[in-house]
Amino acid sequence: MTQDRITFIGAGNMATSLIGGLLATGRAPGSIAAADPDPAQLSRVGELGVVTTQDNVKAVADAAVVVLAVKPQVLRTVVTSLAATLTDDQLLLSIAAGVPAGAITRWAGAQLGVVRCMPNTPALFGAGMAAMFANEYVTPQQRAQATGIAEAVGDAVWVDTESEIDAVTAVSGSGPAYFFYLMEAMIAAGIELGLDPETARRLTLQTARGAALMAIQSDAAPAQLRRNVTSPGGTTEAALNVFESNGVAATIRNALVAAARRSQELADELGSP
Ligand SMILES: NC(=O)c1ccc[n+]([C@@H]2O[C@H](COP(=O)([O-])OP(=O)(O)OC[C@H]3O[C@@H](n4cnc5c(N)ncnc54)[C@H](OP(=O)(O)O)[C@@H]3O)[C@@H](O)[C@H]2O)c1
Repeated sequence: MTQDRITFIGAGNMATSLIGGLLATGRAPGSIAAADPDPAQLSRVGELGVVTTQDNVKAVADAAVVVLAVKPQVLRTVVTSLAATLTDDQLLLSIAAGVPAGAITRWAGAQLGVVRCMPNTPALFGAGMAAMFANEYVTPQQRAQATGIAEAVGDAVWVDTESEIDAVTAVSGSGPAYFFYLMEAMIAAGIELGLDPETARRLTLQTARGAALMAIQSDAAPAQLRRNVTSPGGTTEAALNVFESNGVAATIRNALVAAARRSQELADELGSP
């Protein structure tokens, strides 16, 4: 059976990961195309066996799904230049941060199915978390196609309203940086407490991995897992009391509110006509 063609516009880091993930799920390399002006990027994905071209228009011509994997700042130019070629039965799957689905349909000049996907950086390691919003023209089959693409590099969920993408951006889009920040602080504290830097790094990172695995695989909520390892009068309680008295939870809440607000501002800027 021939598979519907997926074309990537932009063959950078995210596209390369998604292509690698799709090939790992058994998709035929010949059913994937990638377009990019940079020959070095093209040869990188070309080595995976996919069809490559520097011509965006040619690349989208027979695609069922067009993945828009360029920087948000160039998306408008890219979509506008494809407007005459795109047809109503094609799905546009945009991973460009901040660009509203309505702006993409407006630039495409057609009532196309558009899925706006917010991935995150761990997708580069096959451990991504993506959330997707579909506009009113997306068919159930196209939803399934989008899910298959996003899940090739991790987990994916759907949100019902586009404004939720701002919350998604605050939680999972920017989220990896919050955990890196915590890791940085724990490594620095470990060193201050007398550990050598490599030991502090290994203890911190494996603890982060173990805590994430426990939280994912356990039926208990994170709050319960925390209580389970916090003995009255013990060391963990001593540390958590400092978090509490310094308002760490409130600070995290305020940080995510700021991220969501910034996401909304960027959408207003990037999506303006
Ligand atoms: N990386 C992440 O973790 C992450 C997370 C969330 C969202 N995203 C989104 O994913 C998108 C891609 O990110 P990325 O990290 O993969 O960026 P990237 O590595 O810079 O890839 C973008 C590619 O698009 C190419 N390009 C530029 N203009 C083009 C055009 N007119 N036609 C076709 N290709 C063109 C670029 O070529 P040149 O290098 O020659 O300009 C580059 O190879 C961005 O919109 C970003 O917001 C990424």
